[in-house]
Amino acid sequence: MSTHRPSVHVLPDARSAQRAAAQRVAEVLRVKQACRVPAVLGLATGATMVGVYGELVRMHREDGLSFAHVRSFNLDEYWPIGPDDPLSYHRAMREQLWDHVDADADGVLMPDGTVEAADVAAHCRAYEERIRAVGPLDHVLLGIGRTGHIGFNEPGSSLSSRTRLVRLDARTIADNARLAPPGSEVPDHALTMGVATILEARAITLVALGAHKAEIVARALEGPVHADVTASYLQLHADVTVLLDREAASVLRQGEPG
Ligand code: GLP
Repeated sequence: MSTHRPSVHVLPDARSAQRAAAQRVAEVLRVKQACRVPAVLGLATGATMVGVYGELVRMHREDGLSFAHVRSFNLDEYWPIGPDDPLSYHRAMREQLWDHVDADADGVLMPDGTVEAADVAAHCRAYEERIRAVGPLDHVLLGIGRTGHIGFNEPGSSLSSRTRLVRLDARTIADNARLAPPGSEVPDHALTMGVATILEARAITLVALGAHKAEIVARALEGPVHADVTASYLQLHADVTVLLDREAASVLRQGEPG
């Protein structure tokens, strides 16, 4: 498989990078709407995305951006977890985006953190089938974890991986505990869309912010394509845009603000 150079944009600050990411999503929505076909999105959660969704909500309110015919598939969810748990990605997506825009509830799907252990494999297969039925994904929005994960595809995830149950890396659990309210513990498992599913998307945007992401961003973009850093698999995709703030770009060889 040949490698490609992602299009890397270094923005002056986090807000500009989040705004640029929101504009890319909005562009997909507008193009698809003009063609009268649903936009099929892959969506991420995490601190990085809060400002992206905030900007999309602003565009909905002020610029009339519509989510009416969107089909969206979130990348991941902790397991087991209820949809109202303060750590749940279901709850985050409702609070940050879906409660504020005109999307159809039927069009918005996420891996289900309440599924019983015995039903996990069937649930994951069904999630893939739902994507395949309307896919491929037109656009996937990605963050990156400090282990190099995209979605929750931790180190060791294969290029051919699909939606499945994974055990989280100890570093991920520690990082995500920052966002946990006192008294709640980050689950050590999650359901995640696979690398193969992500790479089948027509276009991908990865957003990374802050000095704590700088080293892993450099390994993902400039290091070898390897399962140790699953974000490095993005080098195999022909249409990847990377949006960074200056701090996240600081270890890149090509890290001058563009
Ligand atoms: C989380 C999510 C990823 C997210 C990444 C970065 O654990 N599973 O989808 O992109 O890690 O999170 P943050 O934006 O909070 O740094």
